[in-house]
Amino acid sequence: MSTEDAVFQSQTLDKRIDLEFEQDEKVIIIEINPQKVQKEFFAQFQLLNRIIVRYLNYSLQTCLEIQYGRNQLLISSQDSRVLLEDQKIVMFKNKLDQIVDTQGIWIYLNKKTLNLNIGYGEARKETIVAHYIMESVQNSIKSIKQITIWQESIPLNFLPQIISSQKGELKPIRIHTKDHFIPTLSSVILQKCQNIFDLNQGKQAKNLASEIDDLYQQASQIELHQIEYFESGQQVQGVAKFNLGDLIHHSVTIEGCKLNQILKNKQETAQKNGLDPLMTYIRLGLGHFNKDSAGHQFVLEIWPFKHYSSIHDHAGQYGIVKVLQGIINVKIYAILSNAKHLMNPIKSLTCNQNDMTWLSPKLNQVHQLNNFYPQTAITLQCYKYSKKSQEKIKQFAYVANQQYKNFNPLSDFPDIELHTIFKELVEEYSNLYKKK
Ligand SMILES: [Fe+2]
Repeated sequence: MSTEDAVFQSQTLDKRIDLEFEQDEKVIIIEINPQKVQKEFFAQFQLLNRIIVRYLNYSLQTCLEIQYGRNQLLISSQDSRVLLEDQKIVMFKNKLDQIVDTQGIWIYLNKKTLNLNIGYGEARKETIVAHYIMESVQNSIKSIKQITIWQESIPLNFLPQIISSQKGELKPIRIHTKDHFIPTLSSVILQKCQNIFDLNQGKQAKNLASEIDDLYQQASQIELHQIEYFESGQQVQGVAKFNLGDLIHHSVTIEGCKLNQILKNKQETAQKNGLDPLMTYIRLGLGHFNKDSAGHQFVLEIWPFKHYSSIHDHAGQYGIVKVLQGIINVKIYAILSNAKHLMNPIKSLTCNQNDMTWLSPKLNQVHQLNNFYPQTAITLQCYKYSKKSQEKIKQFAYVANQQYKNFNPLSDFPDIELHTIFKELVEEYSNLYKKK
């Protein structure tokens, strides 16, 4: 399976980074995402005026130049120039006159088909803002060999911090080529899929790394009745007496029950923090922490009627979300941003029982889950860092009330075994009916 990153030689100079590509490289994608600028460089970042991407041919002549600047994006190629002012693909400022760090563009150039796409957030079909076919300059486009990226107005020694493109690092500028752009990839893995590769209409989805397939294989084995069977202590009899889904629904909906109490506490905390009390759900970490993921690798999430999550990312991890009970609506976003005009969902999915949806460091990373139905929904979330990731972020980022924040993906329960909780839910349920 191929890697997701480009193979290229790079050289970082004072104000510039030069990238030299393999001769047969067909697709080059450059993502510029200021969100990854480290806090200590934020003051210098505010001085940034333009990032210029220049594509050079074998004779080092410019074939194409893209200037990502304040309030405008300029594309020039030989005699032609196009000026774009769409807010989604320009560098823009907030009311305090600061450049907003939670924005970003991507540039896709296919030397074979001559397609040039420019979009915002994740590099994918749904986020394209401008599309051109570079026919008039096809000879020069086909001979692109090198790219030079530089910035203006920032002190010299700042550049290596903002522009670095080492493999596996989450830096403000990322370069990838070849298989990254798969417009046909489905975001929902339906129950009939035997393999994660079925996602790409039966063809191997080459850019999905082994990490996601590992998670998929594990998640596809897990169903609620199996958890119930193994955790209820009733295997001896062969049949579980209580349905875990019903027990959870009962406990979360009935006043005074264990899960209802946990939910109420979370709602009160949300309200104190100025957040919608319905933007709450219950997380139950399975097993113990392990260093392969942020928090627990497997988490059961419980979604009462009308409850929903914040719009959040996943610390750059791979992930699978499987619906174990009920129906979950998933909205996918191009980017996590405190800028309102970037935060319209690019996709909305309805996942029924046993459907799964997936995320990778570069695709479907930002989403929001919502239960619109009276039956309490239960999902299984599975997470894994990329094997290549050197920087393992522990927190998930989210946006609420147009503010950019972080949270630790912790369990709402102490690190105890699920069968203990199961036992408590059974007791609670039995007691209620004894009283009646
Ligand atoms: Fe999530």
